[in-house]
Amino acid sequence: MPLAPEQLVRAEILALKAYAVAAADGMVKLDAMENPYRLPEALRRELAARLADAQINRYPDPGGRRLCELLAHKMQVPAGMELLLGNGSDDLIQIVTYALARPGAVMMIPEPTFVVYRMNATLSGMTPFGVPLAPNFTLRREAFLAELRAHRPALVFIAYPNNPTGVLYPEADVEAVIRASEGLVVLDEAYHVFARRSFLPRLAEFPNLVVMRTVSKLGLAGIRLGYLAGRPEWVAQFNKVRQVYNVSVLTQVAATFALEHLEVLEAQAEAICAERGRLGEALAGLPGVTVFPSQANFFLLRVPDAVRAFDGLCRQGVLVRSFHGTHPMLAHCLRVTVGTPEENRILLNALREALG
Ligand SMILES: Cc1ncc(COP(=O)(O)O)c(C=O)c1O
Repeated sequence: MPLAPEQLVRAEILALKAYAVAAADGMVKLDAMENPYRLPEALRRELAARLADAQINRYPDPGGRRLCELLAHKMQVPAGMELLLGNGSDDLIQIVTYALARPGAVMMIPEPTFVVYRMNATLSGMTPFGVPLAPNFTLRREAFLAELRAHRPALVFIAYPNNPTGVLYPEADVEAVIRASEGLVVLDEAYHVFARRSFLPRLAEFPNLVVMRTVSKLGLAGIRLGYLAGRPEWVAQFNKVRQVYNVSVLTQVAATFALEHLEVLEAQAEAICAERGRLGEALAGLPGVTVFPSQANFFLLRVPDAVRAFDGLCRQGVLVRSFHGTHPMLAHCLRVTVGTPEENRILLNALREALG
C-alpha cells in the first residue's frame, strides 16, 4: 500500500505554507513591486528580432560568461570579484543557503523581512533566527550584534533596503554587522535602482560579504535573472550548488539586450522615484494612515483595519499586498507598489473610499 504524502514528506515541509501569489487579471496590479512601464515599442521589436535569432535548440552557456562580463561592466563590479547568475535572486538565495546549511548552522535575519530567507533556511535544514526590528522598522544595532555573538550564524541575510518595509538601514549599522560576523553576510540589494546605496563598490573590504541584485525591479521581472557578486572563493563554492543550466538562452539574450539599453530602464526608475515622493505625501494625508519612509519602489502603510481596506481595494479593482496576520509587527499593514501616475491616482481614490 503506497504511503500518503503526509507520511513521506518531511515534517518541516508539511508545516510550510506555499508562497502565495494572488490572481491579478484585470486588476491595477500594485502587489509585487514591478516596474509598471514596458520597454518602448521600437525596442520591443528589436528585442523580438534578437530572440528570434536565439539558438534555443542548444543548451544555454552554463555560467552566462558573456552576460556576466556585460553586467560587471554596466554595474561597475570591482576588479577581482566574480558574478554568479540565478533564475531570479530567489534562486541565488536558495543556492547560498544550501551551500552553507551544515548541520546545526544558523541563518540570522532582521525581521520582518523577505519571507523567502526563512523559507529556504527551513527547506535546507538550517536554523532560522529572526531578530526583531525596532517598531519603526530600523535595525536595532546593539541587539542584533548581541544575538550575532550569542548564536554565531553561518549566514546573515540583510535586505538593503528591506522588503516589506522599504527602510534602508544606515550604512554604519550594516558595516558593524559585517565586521562582527564570522559567517557570510549576504546584502540583498534588490531595490538598489531606487535606493542608489550599495556595498558593491566596497566588496574588497570584507572577506565575508557578497552582494545580490536582481533585474526584476528594474523592469524585467518576467525574464527571471538575479546576480551575485563576491570573491572567487565564494562564487566557486556556489557554482557547485547551482543547477547547470539555471539561466535560459532566452533570458540571457533578453538581459543582454536590456543592459545595452540600460539608460531606458534607469530613466523609468527615476520617474518611479519622483512618483514615490508624490504618492508618499498623498498617502500620508489620508485619515488614519501611517506611511513608513521608503527608499524602494513601494510603501508599507498601517491602516485602521487592513482586512477591510484590502477587501475594499480589491472590490474596486486594485490589488495590493496585505501583511496583516503574517508577523505581529505588521498588524494592519498593507504594502503598495508605486505605479504610474494614473495607477497611483486610482489607488489613492480607491483607498480613500475603502477607508471611509
Ligand atoms: C528583498 C528581495 N529579494 C529578492 C527578491 C526576489 O527577486 P527575484 O524576482 O529576482 O527573484 C525580492 C522580490 O520581491 C525581494 O523583495
